[in-house]
Order: sequence, then structure tokens, then C-alpha cells
Amino acid sequence: MTAQETSDSRKNRRAVLGISGASGSVYALRLAKILLEAGAELYCIPTDAAKKILAQETPFTDFESAITSQLGKGAALGTLRMCGIGDFGEPPASGSFRFGAMAVLPCSMNTLGKIANSAADNLLVRAAEVALKERRRLVVCPRETPLALSHIENMRSLFLAGAVVMPACPAFYGKPESVLDLADFIAARAAAAMGFESETVKEWGL
Ligand SMILES: Cc1cc2nc3c(=O)[nH]c(=O)nc-3n(C[C@H](O)[C@H](O)[C@H](O)COP(=O)(O)O)c2cc1C
Repeated sequence: MTAQETSDSRKNRRAVLGISGASGSVYALRLAKILLEAGAELYCIPTDAAKKILAQETPFTDFESAITSQLGKGAALGTLRMCGIGDFGEPPASGSFRFGAMAVLPCSMNTLGKIANSAADNLLVRAAEVALKERRRLVVCPRETPLALSHIENMRSLFLAGAVVMPACPAFYGKPESVLDLADFIAARAAAAMGFESETVKEWGL
């Protein structure tokens, strides 16, 4: 492998995970685990609402502890950098920082609308805007039901802009036995759409 190929491969392993204030903190925790175990250089950006919902839905009050608690000792191959939602000095704010992919999981309708309309008043939305303008992979996983027309229109805009719109709708054909199984189904699909393979969920037919 040439030095250029090595550098490109490292940059493609850079991933951004935006976590917004929709229900489903566990989805974000499981996606972070998959990405870190796949060797990602992970930049994690939780919103203030996401932090409140994490405390509501899990025993944890901060994402860094919640994410690292799931990793076995010595198991993490990647690196985790937590970024403040208002910190536009963090690398994902700039197109010159070459990350390979970004996911927003779970994605609130508020954050979805901001990304669709480039209302980049926080680091998460700015990083998503960077992904779209630089033509990088952006995977948006909304969680809301039922949907308003504005939600559907914003999803349409994101689809047309090149994002993968992947609602957090777990499937049941794998006979899930736990909430973690259901969460892993979505997390593994999001990771695959970002370009990170995992053995977390078996492919159908194999
Ligand atoms: C317990 C709880 C659950 C919520 N679940 C959702 C949800 O599933 N989807 C959604 O779009 N908003 C949900 N909200 C509302 C968002 O948190 C709210 O719109 C917030 O402004 C989102 O901010 P953010 O996009 O900056 O994270 C929920 C709020 C609370 C308190």
C-alpha cells in the first residue's frame, strides 16, 4: 500500500456520530460500540436534549461513560473524542477535516429540519452540512411517529441532497430476544450504510 493509500484509508476510518434528542439513546450507544470495535476514529456530538434523554432512558448521565462502559477491556480498537455541541473549533466543523461518514442516530425532527435547511447553529448540524457539501456519506435515522408533513418534506430534501434516510424501525425476522438485539439491528444497518461492516447482525440467508 502506498503512503497516499494509507493516509486515505485512515481518513475513511474517521466517523462522526451526532446524537440528538429523540427517544432511543441505546441506538447511539450500540452504534458507537460497533464503530469503535471496527477501529473508527470516532467524533461524537450529543445535543443537550440527547443528554437529558440519555439520563431518562438509561442509568447514565453522560455519553462518554455510557459508550465506554459497553467496551470490553482492551477490546476497543478505535478512539473516541467527545465534542461539545457549541464547539465549532472541533475538527468536524470544517470541510478540510476529511471524515469518511457521519450518522445522526437517533435523529430528532428538530435536528432533521435543521440539517435539511442548513440551519447550522450547532456543531452537529454543521458537521452534517459539511458531509452534504463535501459529498460524503450522511446517514440520518429519524425517530418520530406519526409524521407531520414538514417531517416528510424535510426527509425528502435530505434524500435528494444525497443523505441515506434510515428511520429507526427495527425488524423482527431475526427473532430478537432483547432490547439490545432490536437496537443492534438499527445500529448495524447504520454502520453498514456508513461503510463499517460488523458481525453484529447476520445477513439474511446466511
Ligand atoms: C423523553 C423525550 C422523548 C423525546 N422523543 C422524541 C422523539 O422520539 N423524536 C423527536 O423528534 N423528538 C423527541 N423529543 C423532543 C426533542 O427532544 C425536542 O424537540 C428537542 O428540542 C430536540 O433537540 P435536538 O434536536 O437539539 O436534540 C423527545 C423529548 C423528550 C423529553
